[in-house]
Amino acid sequence: MQILKLDTYSIFIGDIWKELEQFLEKKQYAHVFILVDENTLELCLPIFFDKIKNTNSEVIIVPPGEQFKNLETCQHIWSELMRLNATRNSLLINLGGGVIGDMGGFCAATFKRGIDFIQIPTTLLSQVDSSIGGKLGIDFENVKNSIGVFENPQAVFIDPIFLKTLEEEELRSGMTEMLKHGLIEDATHWNQLLEIDDVSETDWLKYLPTSLQVKQRIVEADPFEKNIRKALNYGHTIGHAVETFFLETPTPLRHGEAIAIGIICESYLSAQQVGLPEMELNSICDFFKLKYPQVHLEEKNFPTLIDWMRKDKKNVGAEINFTLIKKIGEAVINQTCGEEEIVESLRFYNRLADNS
Ligand SMILES: NC(=O)c1ccc[n+]([C@@H]2O[C@H](COP(=O)([O-])OP(=O)(O)OC[C@H]3O[C@@H](n4cnc5c(N)ncnc54)[C@H](O)[C@@H]3O)[C@@H](O)[C@H]2O)c1
Ligand SMILES: [Zn+2]
Repeated sequence: MQILKLDTYSIFIGDIWKELEQFLEKKQYAHVFILVDENTLELCLPIFFDKIKNTNSEVIIVPPGEQFKNLETCQHIWSELMRLNATRNSLLINLGGGVIGDMGGFCAATFKRGIDFIQIPTTLLSQVDSSIGGKLGIDFENVKNSIGVFENPQAVFIDPIFLKTLEEEELRSGMTEMLKHGLIEDATHWNQLLEIDDVSETDWLKYLPTSLQVKQRIVEADPFEKNIRKALNYGHTIGHAVETFFLETPTPLRHGEAIAIGIICESYLSAQQVGLPEMELNSICDFFKLKYPQVHLEEKNFPTLIDWMRKDKKNVGAEINFTLIKKIGEAVINQTCGEEEIVESLRFYNRLADNS
């Protein structure tokens, strides 16, 4: 088992169960609640109960999926905590993917002005990305993560055992964030990830600590996203627009699939604007082309995509803000690109996608 120590809490990675047991023993919470969605109830909670005996705990169940990451579900969680007499000396364990972690954390951080919570992330995306960094929240009026707070858990416990029941597409989607960590800060990590052949057969434990360290260094240097934390948005300015666009079509993309497209486009922009070497651009494109599904972005939809990019909450004023990379492993934040260049990057992506 490996431990990453952050300023106020630790992340345990690997065979976490002894540490978790000790944590619970030491804290002596009056009540322990476990938040799950219907899938993690079935697939992850049995593993938890198999490993952790005699927890006097109550389980709170919510429906799965992003569409339930909302105020109504929070109300249900808060009502359950009330009904089950949760006090300030209670613990909420969030056992699930990013939706459970973000929403459960938000409910815990606000219930009676804040009770303790821990994250046990069960998807690859939540294990490498959402469970650390302190961002908690829910979607509101169709705007993603528009209500929330920054608050850290007491600890994060990551066991790749949970990933065994995850679909291949979900694994690949989560891997995008790891690749992003490599691209913005750690060329060795990027090269390591290129070795991965079959995501379903991968020993993720080999890669998780390095990937988490990248995010750790960045969020600790800039917890409230004033500067360097913006590097984590690499691929996300264009990727989010693509994700939002396809959400309204019969063929929505997973987050990581859309971000993969964003990374290709923003790598093209990086080569144009900040000198990403052509060989590195090619190696990025080759990998994503080989491992990820491709779509065609119709020219007639480019204005809509650019509109979505303009609405990105990271923009300041009229300019569209990007993080770019000078080379693999080195990000530069606060770059702006004109519409013509963005259009060129979308065309570049189409040429790559169409050329099979
Ligand atoms: N807080 C942050 O910094 C941050 C960063 C990135 C993403 N996010 C958020 O994370 C969310 C996406 O996370 P996600 O992809 O984990 O979504 P998710 O929680 O909806 O999980 C995806 C699906 O997998 C199921 N699932 C969970 N664990 C499983 C397992 N072990 N085996 C089989 N199925 C399992 C879930 O029930 C769900 O249906 C978004 O809401 C996004 O906004 C937050
Ligand atoms: Zn992302």
